[in-house]
Amino acid sequence: MKVPLADLRAQYYELKDQIDTAIADVIETGQFSGGARVANLEHEIANLCGAKHGIGVASGTDALILALDALGIGRDDEVITTPFTFGATTEAIARMGARPVYVDIDPDTYNIDVNRIESRITKRTKALLPVDLYGQMSNREALIAIASRYGLRLINDSAQSIGSTRHGIPIAVQGDASTLSFYPTKNLAAYGDGGMILTNDDEAAEVLRSLRGHGTHGHKYHYVRVGYCSRLDAMQAAVLAVKLPLLVGWNDARRRNAHVYNRLLVDVAQESGGELVLPLETPESFHVYHQYTIRHRRRGELQAFLKERQIGTEIYYPAPLHLQPAYTPLGYREGDFPISERVANEVLSLPIHPELTEEQVTYVSQCICEFQTSRVASSLH
Ligand SMILES: Cc1ncc(COP(=O)(O)O)c(C=O)c1O
Repeated sequence: MKVPLADLRAQYYELKDQIDTAIADVIETGQFSGGARVANLEHEIANLCGAKHGIGVASGTDALILALDALGIGRDDEVITTPFTFGATTEAIARMGARPVYVDIDPDTYNIDVNRIESRITKRTKALLPVDLYGQMSNREALIAIASRYGLRLINDSAQSIGSTRHGIPIAVQGDASTLSFYPTKNLAAYGDGGMILTNDDEAAEVLRSLRGHGTHGHKYHYVRVGYCSRLDAMQAAVLAVKLPLLVGWNDARRRNAHVYNRLLVDVAQESGGELVLPLETPESFHVYHQYTIRHRRRGELQAFLKERQIGTEIYYPAPLHLQPAYTPLGYREGDFPISERVANEVLSLPIHPELTEEQVTYVSQCICEFQTSRVASSLH
């Protein structure tokens, strides 16, 4: 049996008629940029995520850059973030001329460890930029408390967590801004790039709308600030509008798959003496499983074993950002963030997409069990 890590075509065939019609409609009307399609989508996504405003932009990376810019983060400011994330989180901070200041992650959720943040705050700290990794929100209430105690901005990188909640509260209710990505493998995915900034701050929303359109205000050739060319393409908005009503069901299907994995792997994980660790969904979280990420001390061997059995897996992420060449000028060294370093050596994401059948999830689980038992058997000889 073949189990791909993602299956973008399966989802397309499920929706082919609606998607094809929506794309054709954009071409027919000739409204390729802005317009009601983009505005309606912004409104609906903002509603879903608990924000007053949604500002569509060209990518999740731009969403971070524009959010930092609109909130006044710039040269020589410090932004506290996590080294265990996709590169865009740090890249956005660096692009603004600000300094990423890393805090290690929590060993169970892999999100920023809120207990380590305060010791890293200095006079230059202007913002916190946590990531809701793999589809599980970071500890918002602790982050909000720290941000308000020290007068910091809170920007949530929610690229991987659309639809998730914590204590029943959606991703964009708390903080100054939350950002989304619609990259083609995300839970809500475009057929190309796209992103959105969500905010409850009227002033920031107005600045963001200006920033994404070359810094214009009112008239299209009246520039009030140095802006960006970062529109959410109307074609992508049309695709996303077809998919949005299905997101809740897709997230539920991801959760169902995760629960099947948990059920089938719990014993073998327990018996492994810590060699195999399953993902933790905290009781307050509604995890949307953008990734179902296990840890394994012999990750390379397990990945090869699964590959031989036609099971696709991926490593998100193989090295923490403080050890990447682009960010060595920040002056961090190996050993500075031991949890991120250890986790990066052990994580392995399994297929979790909503189109998987229970049979496929069972097959992947059985192969992992087989890997564990073959190891036990060989160590007995
Ligand atoms: C945590 C995180 N932040 C930011 C981004 C950037 O989004 P995009 O690829 O849409 O620019 C991604 C997307 O991969 C992500 O996973």
